[in-house]
Amino acid sequence: MVEFKLPDNFLIGTATASVQIEGGDTNNTWYKWCEEGHIKDASSCIIANDHWNRVEQDTEILKSLHVHTHRMSLEWSRIEPSKGSYSKEAIEHYRNEIKLLLKNNIKPLVTLHHFSEPLWFQELGAWKKAGNTKFFLDYVSYVVEELGELVSDWLTFNEPNVFAKLGYIIGMWPPGERNLRVGFRVQVEIIKAHIETYKIIHKIRENKKFPGKTMVGAAIHIRIFDSTTRLGNMVARAADYIFHELFIQGMTEGKILFPLPSGGYKCKPGRYVDFFGINYYTRNIVEFTLNPLNWFHNLIGDNELDKSDLGWDIYPQGVYRVCKKYYDRYKLPIYITENGISDKFDNRRPDYICNHLIYIARAIKEGIPVERYYYWTLMDNFEWTEGETANFGLYDCDFQSQERKKRKSADLFAFICKNRGLTEAFINDYNTQSTAEKNTV
Ligand code: BGC
Repeated sequence: MVEFKLPDNFLIGTATASVQIEGGDTNNTWYKWCEEGHIKDASSCIIANDHWNRVEQDTEILKSLHVHTHRMSLEWSRIEPSKGSYSKEAIEHYRNEIKLLLKNNIKPLVTLHHFSEPLWFQELGAWKKAGNTKFFLDYVSYVVEELGELVSDWLTFNEPNVFAKLGYIIGMWPPGERNLRVGFRVQVEIIKAHIETYKIIHKIRENKKFPGKTMVGAAIHIRIFDSTTRLGNMVARAADYIFHELFIQGMTEGKILFPLPSGGYKCKPGRYVDFFGINYYTRNIVEFTLNPLNWFHNLIGDNELDKSDLGWDIYPQGVYRVCKKYYDRYKLPIYITENGISDKFDNRRPDYICNHLIYIARAIKEGIPVERYYYWTLMDNFEWTEGETANFGLYDCDFQSQERKKRKSADLFAFICKNRGLTEAFINDYNTQSTAEKNTV
């Protein structure tokens, strides 16, 4: 760890998602997926962190971390439990949660779709049927009418590229579809839904004269694909195009790129995000193999690099590379909407956070307007097919007792938020304490 300083207007916070922490909802696609036995450790999102009943307690934790902003998601299946009927209770719950953040000076960034969906939407064929996109837009309109006065900053979709690939092409996530053609069609529907959502949010907030500058974007999962060979480089470029560009150019510019079928959808080329949202975790080394399917999911690590508990390469320089690449292209402000590490024993998290922030500080110095950083995540939670076995949290959570236990890096993160950087004095102190703690174990 070394000292660094971020600008005074740089916002730092944490990110969470509804199904991963709330518990208590049996009406969403992930609950069903758990019931069907698809989770590695056979756990379920039915309780998760019981956050639905512990909003005040968890807001206290956010306060103690001195975060300036917090990213949370809304659960569509709670807000619209059956098609066309909305739950006053659910929207009131979210309104109170957001008010509590605001009361504590924490700026909310709200995600409308973070992987989970109502079961009724899945039963109707979800994104496979072009006609269904309007149901998502109805939900969006309802939510923005209800919460738009409190929330100016929105994310339409979280990682649509991961969602479409795992849910519709590889079948590892709900709805478990394995069909490339269907996968491409779904991508077009999501691009459409994003663009229409962008317009709806702006329109409602403008018409109703809701306060604050409206900021709408999407959180795209962006990896670095590198290679050491010429053929491998070709594959890396193909992976980048298929995994990133189809969505990035679709959502940002309204372009439906080959091989996506336009399905008759015509969109005026334009700018459909107000900031560029990046979820950055890792890099992959890509090598050529004869089976093209392996190009996209047998992604190789770099033996030279340290790994997270999940085996992901730790490559902080990548955050600088992606910020530079997309700022050079779009000249939009950048939010790092997720960055984090699964590290149960909290040995690598301090350096992981600092080194990523140091590269962000470097980008800012070079004139790239990176404006926010969201650490994934507040506390260990339900990590999709990994269940309860991944440990991304600044806090550990005992899922039985629901006790939240602070990891040491939470102190580091709180200091970073409070001071927008690290000082040598803090680092010395932190290291001395860590050594002392290790010696007493
Ligand atoms: C997702 C989160 C997930 C995290 C860690 C991102 O892909 O948005 O929901 O928990 O990464 O895997």
